[in-house]
Amino acid sequence: MSRQDAITASTTVDALFDTQIQNQSVSVSWNFPVAFTRDLFNPENSVLARTIIGSSPDKCHRILMFFDEGVVAANKQLPADIKNYCAHFKTQINLVCEPVGMPAGEIIKNDLHYIERMQKIVHEYRIDRHSYIIAIGGGALLDAAGLVAATSHRGIRHIRIPTTVLSQNDSGIGVKNGVNLFGQKNYVGTFAPPFAVLNDYNFIDTLPDREKIAGMAEAVKVGLIRDIEFFHWLEKSADELITFEPTAMRYMIRRCAELHMHQISKGGDPFETGSARPLDFGHWAAHKLEILTKHRLRHGEAVAIGMALDTRYSVACGLLPAGDDERVCFLLEHLGFKLWHSSLLMENSSGQLELLAGLQDFREHLGGELTITLLQQLGIGIEVNKMDNELVAQSLAWLKARHEESPL
Ligand SMILES: NC(=O)c1ccc[n+]([C@@H]2O[C@H](COP(=O)([O-])OP(=O)(O)OC[C@H]3O[C@@H](n4cnc5c(N)ncnc54)[C@H](O)[C@@H]3O)[C@@H](O)[C@H]2O)c1
Ligand SMILES: [Zn+2]
Repeated sequence: MSRQDAITASTTVDALFDTQIQNQSVSVSWNFPVAFTRDLFNPENSVLARTIIGSSPDKCHRILMFFDEGVVAANKQLPADIKNYCAHFKTQINLVCEPVGMPAGEIIKNDLHYIERMQKIVHEYRIDRHSYIIAIGGGALLDAAGLVAATSHRGIRHIRIPTTVLSQNDSGIGVKNGVNLFGQKNYVGTFAPPFAVLNDYNFIDTLPDREKIAGMAEAVKVGLIRDIEFFHWLEKSADELITFEPTAMRYMIRRCAELHMHQISKGGDPFETGSARPLDFGHWAAHKLEILTKHRLRHGEAVAIGMALDTRYSVACGLLPAGDDERVCFLLEHLGFKLWHSSLLMENSSGQLELLAGLQDFREHLGGELTITLLQQLGIGIEVNKMDNELVAQSLAWLKARHEESPL
């Protein structure tokens, strides 16, 4: 059918049904502060109070706080500090009830009842869209609380206070939330920018070493796909980072957060309407590994393995020079990551690698065409629309052989 025919046909149908289509255009822009600070609940530090009070100093603002029980177990003073802080600003800030503790880590994302429980509290305390839900915790608690805030009354102001390396340098400053369902990560969730993100470096001091290391995977990731200088800095600073030297840790967190913020605000697709997830290098395998290991692997640990696999794959398919795979693996191992897990070789009843289903899950999560980020050069990612199963298997064999040569 020629183009003219198509137009004619469409005009006929329009006339037949008296169809009129008008274009509706809605554009909304979001601005939110991302602060890096210390001692957030010291009454002399007014950043949280100023964020809440904003341009309405004559009003008393209602806030509901959820915190990660793991954070409070490591910071016993925290609930008292929060209450003291709110009491200090009591004419302008009303903490509607004791801060509410919620289970830590992936537990909260694996059971929708926690979402309902949090929403019930939001409802009981009559938290409205001009009130605030403040969440203090790791990426998992922030993802769950973010979903609660975005869906209660169709969107309550949400202030995130991330307490892990990973949530301060990546997840907390993003615009997504979500929980897991049907064996898939983040199956239920929304795109909802926060009202503010307040990173307090002091929280990192109480974080278990394993969690501190896990969060560094996202820094290596963003260096590898976006910023070679940062990647070089990570190589140079690895000795300081493995001892968690505070200045190096703070720079690593801040620079990584900035690179993520840049992608979200300037990348042109903050709500991921296309098929690409440009910041998700190494993540197709990582998300599957998290599920296959029943979350025994931390998100960052799985990302490190996923990046090692996709870096080797980039070499195997001729994109990246030989040797760069070893260089990336060396840095990751130097930082404390183990680049092998037995579940990488798990097979389904037909003898196929379970891991490969991660490609399909990854495609389905966004819809559209499969789009995987690989490396064309250290510091520069490239998107491809196909992964060769045989090359994935060869890349796995390479990782396994490395591991068997020097098991950590
Ligand atoms: N929304 C996004 O854009 C996005 C991006 C990346 C990752 N994520 C999600 O983030 C989650 C992982 O988050 P995470 O790595 O921050 O871990 P986490 O939230 O699972 O927390 C890890 C552990 O650290 C504890 N903890 C947190 N802060 C602490 C502190 N200051 N002191 C002592 N213990 C503390 C927690 O209680 C928990 O036991 C995953 O579910 C992942 O899917 C989301
Ligand atoms: Zn990640």
